Amino acid sequence: MGKSSKDKRDVYYRLAKEEGWRARSAFKLLQINEDFNIFDGVKKVVDLCAAPGSWSQVLARKLRVGNAKDDDVKIVAVDLQAMAPIPGVVQIQGDITKTSTANEIIQHFEGEHADLVVCDGAPDVTGLHDIDEYIQAQLLLAALNITTHVLKKGGNFIAKIFRGKDVSLLYSQLKIFFPLVSVFKPRSSRNSSIEAFVVCQNYSPPDGYIPNMANPLLDHHYDLDYNNLTGPNRVIVPFLACGDLSGFDSDRTYPLQLPGRQYEYHAPTQSPINPPYQEACQLRRTDKLSKPEDKLAKPEDKLAKPADKLAKPEDKLAKLDMENTEKAVAKTSNWNSQDDEDKSINEEKLTQHMENVNLQ
Ligand SMILES: C[S@@+](CC[C@H](N)C(=O)[O-])C[C@H]1O[C@@H](n2cnc3c(N)ncnc32)[C@H](O)[C@@H]1O
Repeated sequence: MGKSSKDKRDVYYRLAKEEGWRARSAFKLLQINEDFNIFDGVKKVVDLCAAPGSWSQVLARKLRVGNAKDDDVKIVAVDLQAMAPIPGVVQIQGDITKTSTANEIIQHFEGEHADLVVCDGAPDVTGLHDIDEYIQAQLLLAALNITTHVLKKGGNFIAKIFRGKDVSLLYSQLKIFFPLVSVFKPRSSRNSSIEAFVVCQNYSPPDGYIPNMANPLLDHHYDLDYNNLTGPNRVIVPFLACGDLSGFDSDRTYPLQLPGRQYEYHAPTQSPINPPYQEACQLRRTDKLSKPEDKLAKPEDKLAKPADKLAKPEDKLAKLDMENTEKAVAKTSNWNSQDDEDKSINEEKLTQHMENVNLQ
């Protein structure tokens, strides 16, 4: 590829170099500002996932107008990766999913809160859209979590989002904290990308909400943190134990003869309809059910008389079992003419019997 071919293909890449931005992403923040005036009255900003730093450059240029040193302005940029210094920007190399990073940001504001939090975070994409969307959503939730620690009430939050099929869940989560949530696709964001930006205005956490970094989706300590939350931070679904608590315990075994009651056997109220073993019963009736010994039998055994096979005492037991089975099967062969009670008794006995003789 020639030196100028990328310049030709991507106008924002070329313009970024011409105007001194570290990345073409600078135009995305500038274009969001054209529509939403996000820098109005803003002095303290957090730039999450900031490297290589073009958004921090935009913030520094917009907030520190005309290069005049304005002590009130504070810009804190955070990224996993190291960034080259930018005048007027405090840099933290850290992970936005960690409480320690939130605390470090807060320390830089000396107890005050930010007016604006921006996040252009993106994981290394895999090309598998579902996974990429999921990880991006997790990063956005981490950014939202950290935002609840550092943003002042009434402040704004802007973050990159992947508009996948489950994006409405993210919008709903954001709406818990911001009454106004809009989605914006800047001209400089390629149409082929599912990337867009949420502009969340007027931070208004639920009454009594205490920011926390418990994010059950990002780490695997769901039980550790999440169940210890209280007040509006925790959603408790009502659980109701019903029935007489002094009644029978369904996990215990009781004697047949219960105090004050005479035990009497009752057949099941409804026998199984079309049970899976019904075909086996029919095959057995017509002697078509294969037996394990058939498969193992040698050719000369096939010539032997049935009586020969049952010569040993244990064979006699087997014969007895077979005869009982046949009787039981014969009983069930007139199922249609029997009443339901008989059917279910027979079927129960047959099933029990078949289990006993281990018929296949
Ligand atoms: C698209 S780049 C940001 C570009 C930046 N806005 C700019 O204008 O130069 C995405 C950044 O997200 C960062 N990132 C991803 N996961 C992160 C995490 N858990 N904590 C902090 N930064 C993260 C990456 O290191 C990467 O630098």
